[in-house]
Amino acid sequence: MKKIKAGIIGAGSIGNHLANSCRQLDWDVIVFDKDKNSLDRFRNTIYPSRYGKFDPQIKLVDVNFLQDYQNEFDVLLIGTPPSSHLNLLKDAINLNPKLIMVEKPFVPPNLTILKEARQIIDDSSIPIYCGYNHRLSYVARVFLEHLEVLPSNSKRKVVVNWLESWDGILKAHPWLNGPEDSYLGYSNQGGGALFEHSHGIDLGVLTKMLNRKCKEGILSSIVRFHDGKVFPESYDEKVSINFQFEDGDEVNVTQDVVTLPAVKTVNFYNEKFDAAMKFGIENMDSIEIVNKENSNRSLSLKFNKYRPSDFDLEIREINRILKGEGQKFFATAREALLISFLSYVAFMSSVAKKKMKFNCENLTYEEIS
Ligand SMILES: NC(=O)c1ccc[n+]([C@@H]2O[C@H](COP(=O)([O-])OP(=O)(O)OC[C@H]3O[C@@H](n4cnc5c(N)ncnc54)[C@H](O)[C@@H]3O)[C@@H](O)[C@H]2O)c1
Repeated sequence: MKKIKAGIIGAGSIGNHLANSCRQLDWDVIVFDKDKNSLDRFRNTIYPSRYGKFDPQIKLVDVNFLQDYQNEFDVLLIGTPPSSHLNLLKDAINLNPKLIMVEKPFVPPNLTILKEARQIIDDSSIPIYCGYNHRLSYVARVFLEHLEVLPSNSKRKVVVNWLESWDGILKAHPWLNGPEDSYLGYSNQGGGALFEHSHGIDLGVLTKMLNRKCKEGILSSIVRFHDGKVFPESYDEKVSINFQFEDGDEVNVTQDVVTLPAVKTVNFYNEKFDAAMKFGIENMDSIEIVNKENSNRSLSLKFNKYRPSDFDLEIREINRILKGEGQKFFATAREALLISFLSYVAFMSSVAKKKMKFNCENLTYEEIS
């Protein structure tokens, strides 16, 4: 059988994880980057320090040669800073792969870029996904499949905390002195708590929308900037958002880049279930679900994990999609754009100190008070 061939754009932290996970399935892998230092660091430092030794089956290539690979890739994975995603997505579509995945956040906080990205994904016949990989973890699958049985008329409240200091991220990027050395330290480039930790909003909105889609709502937010600055200068270090959907559901999300040790939790409340999932506490994901309609019958599970498994599950999901086996919770590009849109409106709400009415379908918003 012909081997699957993957092109990975970006030889940084995520590029290494994705390449290693692709190699677990014996895929052919070419990693592209615009920076020779990044390609050297991939071969000499990051890959060997994370996985024991460099894998000589991985080819490292200057991104200027990307367009020489017409019709060659089954899969293209874009793992570069957010403000480069849209142009690289256009390049990836030109190469005509079977599937494209763009890392989160799909785009930085910019409505023009967001709308252009929406047009491009709507016009493309290639399936495009986004790397909100926590959705694909074992713990999230059990959690989501349990709650999926709820009928569409059952109201919900979801409370999410995605709190993790820069420490964790900087450990994975030892070549950076601090967030200011990369997009991480600039909210307008898609760094900061709101966009970099958008796994939080993603899981909150995904849980609310399970079997209960809703187009409109109102959000209000409080965003605290590093060093007392304001958007778009510097980066947001803590954000709290309250979503009131028009069907009565409520989602509260708090994300920050200051909490140590990290707290990553999703709590769900409604008349039938109280449910909680926790990510990565001492290398363990866990879940607790109480069925209040059934004598408080409860389910409690723990999953040992290690960081590379986050990406192994993602690449295996792509493998299943390529084999035509379908997928369930992988974030589509449209869903990911909605998360970038809602995060952008959260910035606008905090700047204006107003509640914002939003429409998820049209990607429009307006001040209401
Ligand atoms: N899903 C996750 O859990 C997860 C984890 C880490 C990072 N990410 C996401 O992955 C993306 C990249 O993050 P990272 O930590 O790997 O960053 P990084 O800084 O470690 O690496 C980015 C690489 O992209 C290269 N690059 C930039 N523009 C390019 C271009 N136009 N063409 C080719 N190469 C280019 C840079 O030279 C650099 O080597 C971000 O969007 C981030 O949020 C996701």
